[in-house]
Amino acid sequence: MASKKQTFACCAMALLFSAAIVSAQLSTDFYDDTCPDALDIIESAVRAAVHKESRMGASLLRLHFHDCFGCDGSVLLDGATSEKNAQPNMNSLRGFEVVDDIKAQLEDACAQTVSCADILAVAARDSVVALGGPTWDVELGRRDGTTSSEDAANSDLPAPTSDLGDLIKAFGNKGLSASDMVALSGAHTIGQARCVNFRGRLYNETATLASSLQPRCPRQAGTGDNNTSPLDPATSYVFDNFYYRNLMLNKGLLHSDQQLFNGGSADAQAKTYASDMAGFFDDFRDAMVKMGGIGVVTGSSGQVRLNCRKAN
Ligand code: HEM
Repeated sequence: MASKKQTFACCAMALLFSAAIVSAQLSTDFYDDTCPDALDIIESAVRAAVHKESRMGASLLRLHFHDCFGCDGSVLLDGATSEKNAQPNMNSLRGFEVVDDIKAQLEDACAQTVSCADILAVAARDSVVALGGPTWDVELGRRDGTTSSEDAANSDLPAPTSDLGDLIKAFGNKGLSASDMVALSGAHTIGQARCVNFRGRLYNETATLASSLQPRCPRQAGTGDNNTSPLDPATSYVFDNFYYRNLMLNKGLLHSDQQLFNGGSADAQAKTYASDMAGFFDDFRDAMVKMGGIGVVTGSSGQVRLNCRKAN
């Protein structure tokens, strides 16, 4: 009879294997025949949206991340108990109108062909490129899920109050390594966060950020909660390695950010990225492709939604 240890090893292998098989079902040329203009349509729309408002690039990148703790477009679904209502998402996720606009253009070009989950994956890549970051080939062929769970988003997405161990665990639960997590966190080189998410950092942890940010983020809970500050004040809308350079100066905005350079096991990697932008870009790109394969629905499962906000 197999020992518990053998059974565990065998199940772990099976899990690894199935994750690999799922992403193997995606391909970079998935729409070449069925919707040859799909990638151009998404790219132009993202460029226009970022041109109109630089922050939109950050918001679209984050939408894909939050979708990708199961990349099936579920983050876009409306509903009383959908992911949109989860704590990390409510009054925080942005960019839904841009996705609606892209979807409408794609429906005109090739009806019910390009999934909402794939739109998010391509828009994330195009956003990073529009803000000066690296590019990569996006694997395509995800189908859209039909359900969306507020509870799952609440339990699976990492909180800004997380310590390093919790961050490693949250990403590990989705098949991403600690090293993937450190590289992906570099996404916080763009975009903004609300006071409610970094108040504790200003008043309980650091003087480095405090004096400049406290006026817009008062100590009293409930005052100025939605006032925003850039995650990387040095170069807010450039996708570069300043996120890590800020960490070296104890200027991570979120508690979870500074956990990557706080005397723990992530320090060496964060330090490397602070002085090696090309190395960060390489690892970020690889980790984005890996993240984009989490929990994807392919083949004849799921559906291609007509409207990203509701299942057909
Ligand atoms: C490591 C764990 C992470 C935590 C705890 C975290 C948490 C947060 C929080 C609290 C905000 C601000 C939200 C608000 O105040 O409304 C934020 C913003 C953002 N996050 Fe993360 N995040 C993490 C990882 C990631 C990853 C992996 C990506 C993408 C690959 C990402 C992309 C972004 C972007 C681009 C923004 C700015 C969005 C905007 O300006 O609209 N984050 N994150």
